[in-house]
Amino acid sequence: MKLGVNVDHIATIRQARNGSDPDPVAAAILALLAGADSIVCHLREDRRHVQDRDVDLLRQVAHNRLNLEMAAAQEIIEKALIIKPEVVTLVPERREELTTEGGLDVVLQSTKLKGVIETFNSAGIEVSLFINPEMAAIREAAKIGAQAVELHTGIYAESRSENARQLALDELTNAAIAAAKMGLFVAAGHGLNYFNVRPVAQIQQIEELNIGHSIIARAAMVGMTKAVEDMRYLIDR
Ligand code: PXP
Repeated sequence: MKLGVNVDHIATIRQARNGSDPDPVAAAILALLAGADSIVCHLREDRRHVQDRDVDLLRQVAHNRLNLEMAAAQEIIEKALIIKPEVVTLVPERREELTTEGGLDVVLQSTKLKGVIETFNSAGIEVSLFINPEMAAIREAAKIGAQAVELHTGIYAESRSENARQLALDELTNAAIAAAKMGLFVAAGHGLNYFNVRPVAQIQQIEELNIGHSIIARAAMVGMTKAVEDMRYLIDR
């Protein structure tokens, strides 16, 4: 199981004072040294946390695999084509949201997304679509040529009863099986933490987990290295 560490919230702490500390680039270096397989960051149109300078430097640091999360917006597409991450993850983005709230509506935006996938693929950049674990979205993602899907684990992470949690886990499992059968690389993420990650890590068809907030929150207490090592231990066991 590969672990992508999202460093957005190191930038959130820095932006609280509009200064230079803490630096998401330093966090990325520590995460990689502690066993992260890739670095994830979300360059939002409003630049609320990650800045252009961060992405430029993260590109150099995460030389193995940089996963740039982004909206399918022209300005960010142009930036991504210059940065050349190994993979871009297309997400829906609304200015008033606290964080990404749901998966892409791939069926509704099929034509637009197909064009964006073609643009990135011809520049040698793979495209992952962040989607809810639903068959229609998976089928459409495969149809329009995405290389990967990232299954939204938010509903699983936020479910309050054991029943709801099991139901959400079953949906994730079925979605992962279907996506893998269609030849898609399967990632998952959103809301995963030290208490809920293990059942998701056990879904065989999921090849990568992308985790941000819980790792950064723990890093504030115990340091980045230990926070990443602890998560690695849970997902590898
Ligand atoms: N994957 C995607 C597509 C996301 O948008 C986010 C949030 O930026 C994450 C994973 C990480 O979510 P969290 O910060 O809740 O771990």
